Order: sequence, then structure tokens, then C-alpha cells
Amino acid sequence: MNNKLIFMALAAAGCLAACSSPSTEVTSPDGKIKFAVDNKADGLCYSVTDAGTSIVSPSRLGFVLQGNDSVARFDVLNSVMSSHDETWETVWGESREVRDHYNQLTIEMRQKGGNEMLVNLEVRVFDDGFGYRYVFPQQGDSLVIMEELTEFIVPAASEAWAMTNHDVYYEDYYRRKPIAELDTVHTPVTIEAPGDKYLAIHEANLTDYPKMQLIGEEGGKMRARLVPWSTGVAAYVVTPFATPWRTMIIGGTPGDLVTSYMMLNLNEPCAVEDASWCKPMKYIGVWWEMHLGNGTWYAGPNHGANTANVKKYIDFAAEHGIPGVLVEGWNVGWEGHWPANDHFDFTKPYPDFDIKEITDYAAEKGVTLVGHHETAAWTKNYENQLDTAFKFYTDHGVHNVKTGYVNLLMDGKEDHSSQYGVRHYRKVVETAAANKVNIDNHEPVMPTGIQRTWPNLMTQEGVRGQEHCAWDNDGGNPPEHTVLMPFTRGLAGPMDYTFGTFNYDNPVYPFARVRTTLAKELALYVIIYSPMQMASDTPENYSAHPDAFQFIKDVPVDWEKTLVPDAVIGDYVVTVRLDRNSSDWYLGAATDEDARELNVALDFLEPGAEYTAQIYADAPDADWETNPTAYTVTEQTVKSTDTLPLKLAAGGGTAIRFIKK
Ligand code: NOJ
Repeated sequence: MNNKLIFMALAAAGCLAACSSPSTEVTSPDGKIKFAVDNKADGLCYSVTDAGTSIVSPSRLGFVLQGNDSVARFDVLNSVMSSHDETWETVWGESREVRDHYNQLTIEMRQKGGNEMLVNLEVRVFDDGFGYRYVFPQQGDSLVIMEELTEFIVPAASEAWAMTNHDVYYEDYYRRKPIAELDTVHTPVTIEAPGDKYLAIHEANLTDYPKMQLIGEEGGKMRARLVPWSTGVAAYVVTPFATPWRTMIIGGTPGDLVTSYMMLNLNEPCAVEDASWCKPMKYIGVWWEMHLGNGTWYAGPNHGANTANVKKYIDFAAEHGIPGVLVEGWNVGWEGHWPANDHFDFTKPYPDFDIKEITDYAAEKGVTLVGHHETAAWTKNYENQLDTAFKFYTDHGVHNVKTGYVNLLMDGKEDHSSQYGVRHYRKVVETAAANKVNIDNHEPVMPTGIQRTWPNLMTQEGVRGQEHCAWDNDGGNPPEHTVLMPFTRGLAGPMDYTFGTFNYDNPVYPFARVRTTLAKELALYVIIYSPMQMASDTPENYSAHPDAFQFIKDVPVDWEKTLVPDAVIGDYVVTVRLDRNSSDWYLGAATDEDARELNVALDFLEPGAEYTAQIYADAPDADWETNPTAYTVTEQTVKSTDTLPLKLAAGGGTAIRFIKK
């Protein structure tokens, strides 16, 4: 028999895979990244190399289950290789097209000992990183997961930017530390490894499972911790079940991390049949004045959400073409220490907020309200009202709602990032989708790319945003904060940071302020991505600088393409993006507390074309501390072969619109 006939005979007998030894390695499509699994007697491990350089040295995989032995030792039953290459279109985002190109290895295993549970390890390796997850085929009763044994052991000399898990809202600073000095930290964890490697560890598609945190140890080791229920259990799982993907982006520059869309690729395609109502937008709001202490959420003489005041914002939005107006503090429940209030009513406005009059007025002027549901993390109270709460808004033409969860625990008991919290957030997003409502989720669980599946989950907080600059005892976010965000929190998805400050005086809380120049506030609209982007200052303050406000009016919120030509994490960043709906490019450059001169090659512009560059820059005497509002607006003609010198003041920035002639 010749070889072909032998092959046919074996294939017909269905024993090709079973007769050969199972594969335990898979490489990226370009062959550079290699992911290898080693099934040792004392447990299952994986390791990763990039062009022959070690990125992850043998690191453990597995679980501890309740009532079962530690599930880390396996018999490998089979392995299956496959490949995938598809380009799909985002509903909205930083890039219209995303290429999903990977090689996959699935290793089918049976636990040694215990109840001989079946588990598959599914690995996908892309040119820009890898993801793996555990898949439990249907079997027996539900599983009670106590711990996940997943580890990431990166080169020992690496350093990481990470946020500790002390702040349940993810509103702390990212600090750079050797791996061994990391406390228990939230992901994304961004790593600078020897040899100019930039790595980011996170997770994709967090569904019905707790958030993964990491604990740093000696030798570059980080081991997973799952945020438990109050019972100490990590997750209750009914098979068949797949865990979220454990992911690592691997890049040669900080910008490579930002322009990786691997996390989106590891989420399910859009579940909304016609998502044309999931529209990116800019909004202003009855908001900053309250955070500055000039108005109240509760009813009274300084109540922000009174009909006349809201109409003033609607007028301003209509005049300047801003589509949305957020209104907070409109519904009953904000009195006293409101986080203790477990009975916010989502269909009962305060008497001085006439929702019909306001929404009719807004509709006449082509403006829509952005609604607000502050739940104070009393999720049962919210879930009991969810359908009627969304219907109340949609009956008034409101299809965008900001949600909030200010409280250390949900329902006085469970962590926001636990399986309990993850289930609640998803229920809200899916119920909102059924009502054609877009969500801006504050105090969320850290995003993991769910917006690919549910594009009505437009944006989320989970960041130490601009509000801290209004009232935080530490004086407000330091200048380096916003040039760290794109490479840390930003890797998890859109951020409702809410910049746009044009006035730096805060008589009520004089100890705090926005620590940027005004030109940097403009640049952040390009640098920090969100499809719902707030212009957070008041109409009066914007009216004082109409020339600068023009950039906020012009800047898009939906992009064809994004590039990060130059950046040093935490020092400075230059981001350029092409508008999804025109041929205009936008540039945002920002620096930390150090003034800086940068030269930006304009090679991203269309070759041969001429552009008018409208440049919003720091004035020569600008400085975030002493002279934040000094800026210039100039115009010049440029083309793709030019190099543009930029001068950024201390804490400053430059914003540019390039209009194709
Ligand atoms: C915290 C949110 O981040 C903020 O935007 C909101 O104004 C307050 N909670 C009140 O809900």
C-alpha cells in the first residue's frame, strides 16, 4: 500500500489523531510566538517564546475545586489544531476593520484522580499575543471552583504598571514596580520586559465568572486570584462552561499594546441583530457643577437637575451640535448619605424636574437626554425595576443611560468584581439591549471586550477619572496619569474619563484641581478613547473660550484607524486617528509634568495630498500649574512628507485637526 492509501485507511477508521501523539505546541501565523504545553507528572504548565526569547517560562495551569482534588494533573486524551483568518467590521471603535488571525490548539484532558473531570485547554496564538481558556465539556453536576491555579512567569527583571485591588472601583493610580513587589493587583497589568518587550496581561469575555486578579511573587511570577463571593467560593459553574480567556499582548513598542485588538477577537460576535441604534456620541451634562460643589444631586435651593437649568444645557448643546445632555440627581433618593439608600426610585422625578417638558424641549432642538441610574450598588432594588426603569426613559425618547454603583459592596455583601457582580452587570446590558438603550457604566467590573457582543455597552468608568480633580484630598490626578492611562486601563476598553476642563478655579474645594493645560484637555479627546465622550465643563466656561471649544465640537468619537507613532509610558504619548466618516486625521500629543519638544512625522497622511492643520497648542508661557489656560490656535498647510515640531508645556499637550484640501 502506498502512503496515500495508508492515510485514507487510517482516516476512514477515524483514528488519525488517536494514533499519533497529541500536539502540545502552537505558533502564531507569522511563526514568531510559540506557545508550548508541558504535561508534567506534578501538573500542567505552559511556556511562551517570541522569536526565540522567553516571554513566559513554565507556568502552572489548573484549578482547585470544592470536594475534588486539586485539578492540575491530567492525562492528555487528544489534541486538535485549527487556524482562522477573518476580517470583521466593528459597529464602532478605534478601527473599522479588525483582522482575527490565529492558530488554535485544543488539548482535551481528563483529570488524574479526583472525579476524573474532563477539561479542554483552548489556546489561540495571534501575531500580537495569545489567549487561552479552560473549557469544561458537559458532565455531572455543577462545579464549585475555589481557586484557579493559572500563573504567568515573565522574565524576572521585568517591571509592571499595575493598580492594587484596594479600590473596588478601579479608581486608584497605576504604579510601576518590580513584579515581586506587586501586591494583589487588578488586570490589565502592563509589563516592560528586558529587550524592549511590552506585555499586557488581562482577560477577554468575562462572562458568569469572577474577575481575575494577580499576585506578584519572586522570579517574575504572577499567580491568579479570583474575586470570591462572600462565601469564599470563587465560581459556581454549570457545564458545559468556558472560562474567560487569559490573555497577553506582546509588542515591541508601547503603541503596539494600544493598537492590538486581540481582546475583541476573543469575544463573541455582535449579538444585536441591527445595531444601528448603538451610536457613538458626545455629551455635556448637569454634572461638573455638582462635583465642584456648586449644585446638589438632592432637591433644594441648589438642585442641579431643575427644569430651567437642564434647558440651559439643552440650549447650549443645540447651539453647538452636541447630541446629548446628561442629567444626574433627577430622581427621588439622593437625600442624606445616599449610598445607604436601598430604595432609589427610577421612575419618580423630583418635582422641579419636569421630564416631559424637558424631553419634548430637547427633541424639538435635536438633542437627547443621557439618563442616569445611580443604584448605590443595591442591585436587587435595581433589578426589580430594570424593565420599567428603561421603559420610563425610552417612553421619553431617552436611549442612553449612565449607571452607577457607588458602594463598597453590592447589596451590602458581594464584591463588584465577583461572579455575583459580573452576572448583574451583564443582566443590565442585555436588558438595556432589549430596550434599545446604550449604557455608560460607572463603578463597573473592569471591561474585557464584551462591547463586541453587546455594542450598547458603549463606555465604562473603572478609572480614576476627572471627577477626582474636582474634590480629591490628594489634589487631583497628577499630569502623568493621563499619559499612563492609554497603556494600562485603556487596554481594557473605552473609558468615560470625562475631560474637557476650561476653567481651573475651584472655590469650594480649593485644594483640588485639574492638573493639565487647556490644550492638553483637547488632546485627550484623541488620546483616550471612548465612543461616548463628555465635554464635562459648564456652558459658561466653554463660552469663555469659543475658539478652543471648536476642537471639542469637531473631534469625532468613531474612528477608521488608530496609530500611536510615539510614546514612553507615563512620560508622553502621541496618538493619531482617522475619522470614520471623513478624510480628516486628528492628532493628540500630551506630556507628564515635564515640558517636552517632539517631532512628529506626518507619514500617516495620504501621500500627495495637502491638509490644513488646525493646531491647538500650549502658548509659550503655558504651564499646568501657573498658567493652564494659555493656548494658541494656528493654521498651516502640511503634507505626508513633513515633520511637525510640537512644543508641549509642563503638563501640556497639542491637539490637531488635519483637514484634507
Ligand atoms: C460616581 C460617578 O463616577 C459620577 O460620575 C457620578 O456623578 C456620581 N457617582 C453620582 O452618581
